[in-house]
Amino acid sequence: MSPQLFQSSLAQFITLLLIFIICTKSCHAEEERYKNCRSHPYNCGSIQGVKYPFWGDERQGFCGRDEFELKCINNQYPIIQIDTLTFRVLKINTTSSTMTIARNDLWNGVCPKEFISTALKASSLFTYDNMVRYLYMFYGCTSNVTEQVLYNFTCPINGSRSSGAFFASFVGQNVTGCDVNIVVPVLWTAYEELWNGKLTLQQAFNQGFNVVYNADDVVCSACEASGGICGSGFDFSQSEDGYVTSEKFLCFCQDQPHPLACDGASAAGMGMLLMCIIICCYRRKLWSNKLIVLWKKKTENDQNLESFIRHYKALAPKSVLRMIILHLASVHELIQSS
Ligand SMILES: *[C@@H]1O[C@H](CO)[C@@H](O)[C@H](O)[C@H]1NC(C)=O
Ligand SMILES: *[C@@H]1O[C@H](CO)[C@@H](O)[C@H](O)[C@H]1NC(C)=O
Ligand SMILES: *[C@@H]1O[C@H](CO)[C@@H](O)[C@H](O)[C@H]1NC(C)=O
Ligand SMILES: *[C@@H]1O[C@H](CO)[C@@H](O)[C@H](O)[C@H]1NC(C)=O
Ligand SMILES: *[C@@H]1O[C@H](CO)[C@@H](O)[C@H](O)[C@H]1NC(C)=O
Repeated sequence: MSPQLFQSSLAQFITLLLIFIICTKSCHAEEERYKNCRSHPYNCGSIQGVKYPFWGDERQGFCGRDEFELKCINNQYPIIQIDTLTFRVLKINTTSSTMTIARNDLWNGVCPKEFISTALKASSLFTYDNMVRYLYMFYGCTSNVTEQVLYNFTCPINGSRSSGAFFASFVGQNVTGCDVNIVVPVLWTAYEELWNGKLTLQQAFNQGFNVVYNADDVVCSACEASGGICGSGFDFSQSEDGYVTSEKFLCFCQDQPHPLACDGASAAGMGMLLMCIIICCYRRKLWSNKLIVLWKKKTENDQNLESFIRHYKALAPKSVLRMIILHLASVHELIQSS
């Protein structure tokens, strides 16, 4: 074995080893997310087996979307934060993408500490379903006002001062003599029963109301149909203030994450195939001329390499692409040194 041949074999061996290490590392890490999300549906109290877009507690953030974090309270019920309010999650139906939620601050009493209207308007991710009716709550009213209404009660306002409160079906009755009013949605059925006297205000509140959540339904269905698990990742982009991250949908597959759905042919397998072709051709010295041409062209015109990379980027995942570039670099070095 001539020293040159030995040198070239050694370089080849090291390249292969490097490729092997990179591949097993990246392939393994990517498969982890698939396994992790599949084996950790969200469970808390009566809410069981909930999948994307929800996450929280044992279930990792990449298994869901940022805004859909659930926190389990005393192993009994999960809570979710929407805008400034915290809600108890009573039901989740992932088939219809709806959940039944109730305001946590009104769960143990109809007098909130802070008078905040339930407003999902600011959030495009959650919208009321068509079974929602609104109750207008008035607090801090004078007796002149409460004496005139049917459903009155008292609430401490500002800590100590106890004053009248009532609810109405519309805000149109321009109430003067009350400090504050808020809107609370309730179920249509609860609303009817409240006015019939079959339910108390507290019972009506505690039945919650339905919201439809928008969580890439179509994309997620396509991902699941292809054998994947819906999840998320981050896009990094540079701005004046530094790096900005934005969440994006990812379909975790057995091989690696894909933007939308799992490929029929495994991308990792395809990467391996590409690599074999490169190695075989290199061994037979069939490709070395082409590679030299390619490399020279690159120095002449960077666009050629870019189009080469773009061509393979469409076929191969980033890790494989990195390997090919590494391999090209080592071949280039070999050619130069020999
Ligand atoms: C979930 O929603 C679907 C579609 O509206 C419905 O058929 C199904 O019965 C619901 N599941 C539960 C548990 O309510
Ligand atoms: C209540 O109503 C009476 C008569 O309508 C009026 O004289 C009185 O000022 C009112 N009180 C308040 C606190 O508005
Ligand atoms: C509540 O309303 C009734 C009439 O519906 C009235 O007689 C009563 O005084 C009111 N209570 C308060 C605290 O204003
Ligand atoms: C509470 O009291 C403060 C001043 O003491 C007042 O500015 C505020 O409007 C009161 N809030 C309500 C809801 O009555
Ligand atoms: C409601 O009352 C306020 C003053 O308290 C008044 O400026 C406003 O025009 C009233 N709105 C209606 C619809 O009557």
